[in-house]
Amino acid sequence: MSEFSYKKGELYCESIKVKTLADKFGTPFYLYSYNALINNFLKIQAAFKPVDPLICFAMKANDNLAVVKALTDKGAGCDIVSLGELQKAKKIKADPQKIVFASVGKTEEEIIAAIKTGILFFNVESEEELLKINSLAKKLNKKTSATLRINPDVAAATHQRITTGTLKNKFGIDLQTAHRIFKNADKYPYVMLKGLHIHIGSQITTTKPYVDALKKALSFINTLKKDGIALEYFDLGGGFGIIYKDKNIAGPKDFAKVLIPLLKKIDLKIVMEPGRSICGDTGIFVTKALYLKDNGAKRFLIVDSGMNDLMRPSLYDAYHEIIPVKQTHSRKIKMDIVGPICESGDFFAKDRMFPKLKEGELIAIKNAGAYCHVMASNYNVRGRAPEILVKGNKYAAIKKRETFKDLVKLESIPDFL
Ligand code: LLP
Repeated sequence: MSEFSYKKGELYCESIKVKTLADKFGTPFYLYSYNALINNFLKIQAAFKPVDPLICFAMKANDNLAVVKALTDKGAGCDIVSLGELQKAKKIKADPQKIVFASVGKTEEEIIAAIKTGILFFNVESEEELLKINSLAKKLNKKTSATLRINPDVAAATHQRITTGTLKNKFGIDLQTAHRIFKNADKYPYVMLKGLHIHIGSQITTTKPYVDALKKALSFINTLKKDGIALEYFDLGGGFGIIYKDKNIAGPKDFAKVLIPLLKKIDLKIVMEPGRSICGDTGIFVTKALYLKDNGAKRFLIVDSGMNDLMRPSLYDAYHEIIPVKQTHSRKIKMDIVGPICESGDFFAKDRMFPKLKEGELIAIKNAGAYCHVMASNYNVRGRAPEILVKGNKYAAIKKRETFKDLVKLESIPDFL
């Protein structure tokens, strides 16, 4: 996170003082570094250069239009999972031939919109879905392309709610069924079956699960070859982990070193879908200390944001490093850092050694660029926090703070009340 650093005791994002932004926009807010974002993208691209992949940014990690546009301007494509993400990709004029669409539950509306857009391919997750895509493409009289998302049945050591590559999960198609589908491809004349897709999970920090999955994919591709079935694409999915706490994890270069030889053997056009590893460490979440409460047994730092803003700690017990925005010499004590929401699950850190801050001082929750703002909610009628983007000495709100008006605009009281 070198774009976030202290200068004379004050936290900066690139050339902008975080405190300046807090004064201007109020708290809490998300803050992203443009340079960090682009550097992460370029690093992955450089690491995998020998196989020249199409890198489709997984929009689910951060779907802000400015973030996605910054990346597509550098040549990234988009990995989408919903009509909303497709519409956002179209709004920033992403190249349709760089859009791939995964989701176990694509609706007719979503399929039709994607066919009309002319996306690169669907990542198909069941035979039933493939039949549906074929019949809708036929109705539209427009051929479309697909890969089959195979379930390689490998367990990635990550949080159980974000592992996806075993048969216990709802994702992908088992190899036997996939083989049958490829052999009967003429059942789907409006869908060109062009390849294989895998995605084995997220926040994966070792290379082994990928190696296992790629070996399975390779042997499957060879089986298909023997049957005279030739493919064009192999989509590796996303999943590379970032450093939240443990520094000893595989980075893009380590993944590349181990995976490139296998990808070369696979010898197809390579697509990748990284999300977190592009945007995760490019953002912080800034919030303000309200009260330091001591109940005799425990101390709590209560801040002006909650699980509705950033729910990874509540949902996954995820660790996020937290730092003061102004460096302080005050003594560190053990505390929970919590929000104002009416649930005990509303916390950012438990039993964390953290300096004793005064009311009004700011803290920054790190690694808040992926799966944070996108997962925010309006629980307890709290407006979602704004997102600010910094590039050098420039900054802009790339999403405004939600107001009370925004929160009630879709609600109405019916006449019969
Ligand atoms: N491709 C597919 C098909 C996916 O399902 C995902 C993530 C990705 C790519 C991107 O994976 P990444 O490179 O970001 O690991 N909310 C959770 C993470 C859920 C990930 C879901 N799928 C979290 O906060 O950790």
